[in-house]
Amino acid sequence: MPDTDPAVSEIRDLLRSAKSTLVLTGAGVSAESGVPTFRGPDGLWKNHRPEQLATADAFRADPRLVWEWYGWRRQRVAACRPNAAHEALARFTVRDSSTQIVTQNVDGLHELALQDLLSVEEASTALPLELHGSLYRVRCVACRFRVGHRDPVDATSEASLPRCPECDNLLRPDVVWFGESLDEKTLEAAITAAEGADVCLVVGTSAVVHPAASLPLVTRQAGGVVVEVNLEPTPLSDVARVSFRASATEVVPLLLAL
Ligand code: OAD
Repeated sequence: MPDTDPAVSEIRDLLRSAKSTLVLTGAGVSAESGVPTFRGPDGLWKNHRPEQLATADAFRADPRLVWEWYGWRRQRVAACRPNAAHEALARFTVRDSSTQIVTQNVDGLHELALQDLLSVEEASTALPLELHGSLYRVRCVACRFRVGHRDPVDATSEASLPRCPECDNLLRPDVVWFGESLDEKTLEAAITAAEGADVCLVVGTSAVVHPAASLPLVTRQAGGVVVEVNLEPTPLSDVARVSFRASATEVVPLLLAL
């Protein structure tokens, strides 16, 4: 997509003059880093669909299998680096503190892109809201214990799985599974950001999973503008001022260039 495309210039000006911007991202923003999307052809692991493994029932039935899958996902993601879209978004957030990234991704790549620009402490003030949790946190299935966790998990047997240091129950990935509610405070903060945004830039999400997919509609209802970047049309394409039918690394850096 050429830099001189009129739609690019229009949206670049809009983003420059916005008082507050919400960026909603999905698996598509990380696809060019090598992270498989959910609904794309790479979404399967050993013939299991994510919907079969990412549930509390699956974890109760076979915690070893679910941890083995998460171990594989962590390994795949650990081999991936932020791409040009993550980097442009990180620079934009650092430059403009009224920008809030809200992501459905659990891969930590937005955070990594920020840490490439800032120290870990500085980056913590610009962190994305992770609506669906993180691959790199665990929580106890029984008590409120929750902690950052990057060590490899030994999923050779149930006895070797990580356990809660406070109550000795199993630790599970701190991600939102099918049928579970989002963390209330994170969702509230995302809704507040959506209500206050002049522009909601939506990148690489199929926009079929709610409440995440409703956030751009909140911005729209409050009088803001929705802009979409996606290889394919989505349910949000019709409400978007512009829907760029191109890849995240191609368009996002152009839209956010100074
Ligand atoms: P999906 O896999 O549903 O959708 C990925 C979207 O990214 C699709 O619309 C693709 O067209 C688009 N896409 C792929 N590559 C792209 C690229 N290079 N540039 C731009 N767009 C690209 O992933 P999500 O929408 O993130 O939830 O899925 C939402 C949620 O569904 C996930 O967070 C997960 C799943 O259930 C939970 O696990 C709770």
